[in-house]
Amino acid sequence: MTAIPALCRLGALDLDRAAALHGEAFGPQGERAWTRQDMAELLASPGVAGLLLRRDGADIGMAVYRVAADESELLTIAVRPADRRGGAGRRLLVAAIDHARAAGARAMFLEVGVDNPAARALYQSAGFRAAGRRPAYLRRGDGPPADAIVMRLALG
Ligand SMILES: CC(C)(COP(=O)(O)OP(=O)(O)OC[C@H]1O[C@@H](n2cnc3c(N)ncnc32)[C@H](O)[C@@H]1OP(=O)(O)O)[C@@H](O)C(=O)NCCC(=O)NCCS
Repeated sequence: MTAIPALCRLGALDLDRAAALHGEAFGPQGERAWTRQDMAELLASPGVAGLLLRRDGADIGMAVYRVAADESELLTIAVRPADRRGGAGRRLLVAAIDHARAAGARAMFLEVGVDNPAARALYQSAGFRAAGRRPAYLRRGDGPPADAIVMRLALG
C-alpha cells in the first residue's frame, strides 16, 4: 500500500537528496539546478527554511522560502516529474505559506517564468496575483532568457 506523503523540515542531512530532486525537476526546462553547496549556503542564510515531502522513504517534492520581517519569498518549489498533478505542489505551497504567516509575514512574493504555465496555474489557484514583470530575467539553457512575472499573496 502506498503511504500518504509526509512533510518534514529540509535539514543538513537532506542536502544531497534535495539537490538531486531540484535537478530532476528543473533540468528538463533548462534551468540551472541548485548544487548541494547552493542549498547549504541558502539554508544557512537568515530567515530561510525548507520543506521536504516524502512518501515511502522517497523525496517527492521540496520548497524553500525566506521570511524577513513582515515579508516572505518563495525561493523554489519542485515536485519530481513522476509525482506531478497529485497535489504535492499545492501541499508544499500551502505549508510554506502557513509557516511564513506563523513567522510574522504579511505577504509572500515569488518570481515565475512566463513560460511556466504549470507553476503559474498553481500560484494563481493559491491566490497569488501578478505584481510586476522582469524582462529577460530567467536563464533557459542555451535559449534566450525568459521574462519573470513577480507575484504576490497577502497573508492576512
Ligand atoms: C509547478 C509544480 C511544483 C507543480 O507541482 P504539482 O505537484 O504537479 O502540482 P499540484 O498537483 O499540487 O497542482 C496544483 C494546481 O496547480 C495547477 N497545475 C499544476 N500542474 C499543472 C499543469 N501541468 N498544467 C496546468 N495547471 C497545473 C493546477 O491548478 C493544479 O490544481 P488542480 O490539480 O486542482 O487542477 C511542478 O510542475 C514542478 O515541479 N515543476 C518544475 C519546477 C518548477 O517549475 N517550479 C516552479 C518554479 S517558479
